[in-house]
Amino acid sequence: MTTVAVTGAARGIGEAIARVLAERGYALLLGDLDASVVDLAASLGGVGGVLDVTDQTSYEAWLSLVPSVDVLVNNAGVMWVGAFDAEPSRVARRQFDVNFHGVVRGTQLVLPAMRARRSGLVVTVASAAAYISPAGEATYAATKHAVLGWMKAVRQELAGSGISLALVMPTVVETELAVGTVSGGVPRLSPADVALAVASVIEKPRFETFVPARVSALTRVLGVLPQRGRDAMYARLVPNQVQAADPAARAEYESKRL
Ligand SMILES: NC(=O)c1ccc[n+]([C@@H]2O[C@H](COP(=O)([O-])OP(=O)(O)OC[C@H]3O[C@@H](n4cnc5c(N)ncnc54)[C@H](O)[C@@H]3O)[C@@H](O)[C@H]2O)c1
Repeated sequence: MTTVAVTGAARGIGEAIARVLAERGYALLLGDLDASVVDLAASLGGVGGVLDVTDQTSYEAWLSLVPSVDVLVNNAGVMWVGAFDAEPSRVARRQFDVNFHGVVRGTQLVLPAMRARRSGLVVTVASAAAYISPAGEATYAATKHAVLGWMKAVRQELAGSGISLALVMPTVVETELAVGTVSGGVPRLSPADVALAVASVIEKPRFETFVPARVSALTRVLGVLPQRGRDAMYARLVPNQVQAADPAARAEYESKRL
């Protein structure tokens, strides 16, 4: 049976991934800062444990709860929204610690056993913000660009190893992380939409998957347009969260998770 380890699985996209994978018969290891993940895992027939992806000891202890991991889903993430010059440096560092260094740590920790078996898959829930940087999400988008840049190099390093890497890049999803933000030209996704994309990548690995898929075309067009055309497309399609997000609606999320 294939064992899938999912970080940030207590709620939102991670919980949806866990539910879809449980239905499809995968063995699960679920982790989150929030201890409710233990009961969730038990209800899905899996193993759960408190996990802080920013802490090496915590991560190692969590992975040791199962004999081996065939697929790691790096999903835990945090986001702060607002003008770049109002962002506390502690909050910027926290986003890098969780969204980037947490992904690096998890990938490094599962790699030795995968190398020995010459098989394995690491799926990272990045974001469309790996390619597109909405105003008001400067550091968050930088963390997701960093994940993409890192994975592109690691993918080369793993060529021929039997280990695959995959990025799933959704637009705005209806979860706590996105509360009080606006979605721009793309309808808000449900966590289940992203979970189905992750499940399909586990079944048939590919490096980059946008959710919805048409965002791939948008990023390609943005890549070839001259700057003036790019600015016009941003103005039409990419939400400006400095102007449009609701800080009062985000206050509880940001004080709890950042
Ligand atoms: N919601 C969106 O609009 C959206 C869009 C694109 C990508 N994403 C990405 O999807 C992933 C999941 O986000 P979500 O929307 O479900 O958010 P969420 O806030 O609903 O869930 C994130 C989970 O991660 C956990 N977590 C946070 N820090 C952690 C840490 N240090 N160690 C372990 N767990 C930790 C939280 O406790 C929470 O349960 C994130 O990587 C996020 O960047 C979200």
